[in-house]
Amino acid sequence: MMDEISPQSTIRPAAHRDSNTVVKLWKRLVTEIDVAAGYPDLHAAVDKWSDRLGRQIDEEKAFVAELDGKIVGFACYVGRTAGSGLQNRRTDRLKGPGLPIPLGVAYVTDLYVTPAARHQGLAQGLLGVIMRGAESTGFHTVWTNTSSRNKRTLSLLSKLGFAPLQGFQIPDLDNQVYYARAL
Ligand SMILES: CC(C)(COP(=O)(O)OP(=O)(O)OC[C@H]1O[C@@H](n2cnc3c(N)ncnc32)[C@H](O)[C@@H]1OP(=O)(O)O)[C@@H](O)C(=O)NCCC(=O)NCCS
Repeated sequence: MMDEISPQSTIRPAAHRDSNTVVKLWKRLVTEIDVAAGYPDLHAAVDKWSDRLGRQIDEEKAFVAELDGKIVGFACYVGRTAGSGLQNRRTDRLKGPGLPIPLGVAYVTDLYVTPAARHQGLAQGLLGVIMRGAESTGFHTVWTNTSSRNKRTLSLLSKLGFAPLQGFQIPDLDNQVYYARAL
C-alpha cells in the first residue's frame, strides 16, 4: 500500500530501518502536543513505544510520509479483526483509559507531520492509506483520539468524515475525545 501525494511526497509502509527516525518524530510529537508531562519517565516510555512500533511495522500498521526522500511524518494503528486469531494480545488495549478496542476497530494511535512539511496533504494521505489498508484487511471502523483543543486535528478529522464517538470520554487524559469513522 503506497501513495504518491505529489511528485515530491509519498506515503509508504514503515520498515524496521526507519525505526530510529520515527522514534525521534514521536518524541517531537509528545513534546509538541504537550503530553510529555504524562510520561514522567520519558526514557521508559520511548522504549515501550519503540517495542510497539516494531510490532506495528511487522503487521504493516505503521506508515511514513516522505518529502524529497526524507521522512517527515508517520502514522500507526493497532487492532484486530475477528479472523486474525490474535484478539487477546495486549496491543488491543489502550494504555490511557485501558478500554479494550473492539474487534474490527482500527485504532490510530499516532499521527505526526513535522511543522515544515505541513499543509501539503501528508496527514490526509497517511490517514487515507491507513483507512484503505484497514478496510482491505477486514476492519469495519477507524477510531482515534485527540484533544478537544487540537483544532488542526479536529478540522482534519471532520474533513475525513470522523465524528465524536458519543458516550466515550477518556477519564484520565485532559480534554481527550474519541473520534470514529465507518469504513
Ligand atoms: C495535525 C497534523 C498531523 C496535520 O498534518 P498536515 O500534514 O499539515 O495535514 P494536511 O496537510 O493533510 O491537512 C492540514 C490542512 O492543510 C490543508 N491542505 C492539504 N493539502 C494542502 C495543499 N496541497 N496546500 C495547502 N493546504 C493543504 C488541508 O485542507 C488542511 O486544512 P484544514 O486544517 O483547514 O483542515 C500536524 O499539524 C501535526 O503533526 N500536528 C501536531 C501533532 C498532532 O496534533 N497530531 C495529531 C493528534 S495526536
